Amino acid sequence: MLSAKAVSKTFPGVRALDEVDFTARAGEVHALIGENGAGKSTLIKVLTGVYAPDTGELTYNGTPARFTTPLDAQHAGISTIYQEVNLVPLMSVARNLFLGREPRGRLGLIDFSRMHRDAEEALRDLGVTVDVRRPLRELGVGAQQMVALARAASVDARVVVMDEPTSSLEPREVRTLFGVIRTLRERGIAVIYVSHRLDELYEICDTVTVLRDGKVVHNGALADLDRLRLVALMLGREIETVRKEGLTNFTGTHDTETEPVLVAENLTVSHHLHDVSVTIRPGEVVGLGGLLGSGRSETAKAIAGALPTDSGRVTIAGERIRTGSTPAAIRAGISLLPEDRKAEGIVPGLSVRENIALAALPRLSRFGLVDERRIDELVDTFIRRLRIKASSPHQKVGELSGGNQQKVLLARWLAMHPKVLLLDEPTRGIDIGAKAEVQSLIDELAEQGLGVLLISSDTEELIEGSDRVVVLKDGETVAELTGPEVTEQNLLRAIATTEPA
Ligand SMILES: Nc1ncnc2c1ncn2[C@@H]1O[C@H](COP(=O)(O)OP(=O)(O)OP(=O)(O)O)[C@@H](O)[C@H]1O
Ligand SMILES: [Mg+2]
Repeated sequence: MLSAKAVSKTFPGVRALDEVDFTARAGEVHALIGENGAGKSTLIKVLTGVYAPDTGELTYNGTPARFTTPLDAQHAGISTIYQEVNLVPLMSVARNLFLGREPRGRLGLIDFSRMHRDAEEALRDLGVTVDVRRPLRELGVGAQQMVALARAASVDARVVVMDEPTSSLEPREVRTLFGVIRTLRERGIAVIYVSHRLDELYEICDTVTVLRDGKVVHNGALADLDRLRLVALMLGREIETVRKEGLTNFTGTHDTETEPVLVAENLTVSHHLHDVSVTIRPGEVVGLGGLLGSGRSETAKAIAGALPTDSGRVTIAGERIRTGSTPAAIRAGISLLPEDRKAEGIVPGLSVRENIALAALPRLSRFGLVDERRIDELVDTFIRRLRIKASSPHQKVGELSGGNQQKVLLARWLAMHPKVLLLDEPTRGIDIGAKAEVQSLIDELAEQGLGVLLISSDTEELIEGSDRVVVLKDGETVAELTGPEVTEQNLLRAIATTEPA
């Protein structure tokens, strides 16, 4: 249906695609995998008219193709969900769903009531009920992604491309997404699927293409390739090394002190949180469990002063801090890695070095002078440990691959040396090699005496990473699991209960 032959694409300092051959067939779900920066998004952008290839040929439905814009490709029947949500945040949900193909009345004006009705129906089919008149940005990241999905599924397409569609979805939404993908496959549509979550790939994909440093290193049926071999191919390492290192990188539990470093009590934010309490001791990793909309991100934001609270108290190392003030929280030693990195953090026009050092500058300065050497050391350490792929520390962050941008932001907050670190989905979008590295870094920080709050929709990560898990539901604490109680079964059971604890 859609194929690329010997396609190359070079950016200043990096060959993002090197003679890539790729074929997506009708009625087949094709996994495209590789480390952060391997070239997945670039290939998709070449296939869908965002970039023109430097050399090489594209074929669509049997004839040579050259799309000059994404709209071109869309009109030809290629529907894409990009890694970065490329919808318009200020426009309504409905408008975003029908962007460029709004239903129109006799005078050529947009038929709003029909658009709202159709939008509601398309989303209801996906199990999402929202007010489609509200601006898109008022929705959480997961719900925004469902809107992008509804949009892709409602277009009459022959090829559907999904670049990390599940990265902000909950298990229930992932089920819905897979239902949609199966329907697409039955309708003879070619689906291209990019994800770092291996379980999902094995569940939904038929074929796989593995990219490494812009080259295709493997292509074939996914069922013929076991997980270890897949990872070894991706990382370019021997299977034996991968087996020894394992796939998650958390070590057992931590020795914790008894006096808590963080006490958050009875946090209440109207419509979001009701009497939520969390304590974290130095050296402890406390997980926050719960479904989408259960109040996990809101809890982290309320603690970090990023969300005004109606009532409740936060104390750090015994000292009460003013709630609702980010500067007060930062001064007290709280740092938050937010969920929506694009809106709340990354500065695309600044370099990798500047983005990492940004928040730590006060700590790295003396008498108003910045210690450039210490910054270099710090930046080098994080680039190495998190395997940030950049042509140099001076490259603009906006030019990095999605996963590498995430790593830069994570490095910024880790570099702050806070007393309490709040991590909202720290490994989302990060490849398995670097994910293991992030996890061991979290462990290491806890061992150094930091208190960590971990929010992750990756259940395995939450369970293996946390010493204790506080479970939220509808903005209330419903359970707390400690030590050996922290198991997937207990977590699921706690989420399913209806009575607040
Ligand atoms: N606009 C750009 N300018 C300069 N370099 C770029 C640009 N876009 C991508 N690159 C580089 O091309 C390489 C491939 O990036 P790409 O985004 O395709 O990776 P990816 O496989 O999608 O990674 P991820 O899993 O992190 O999303 C990276 O080294 C990246 O820094
Ligand atoms: Mg990408």
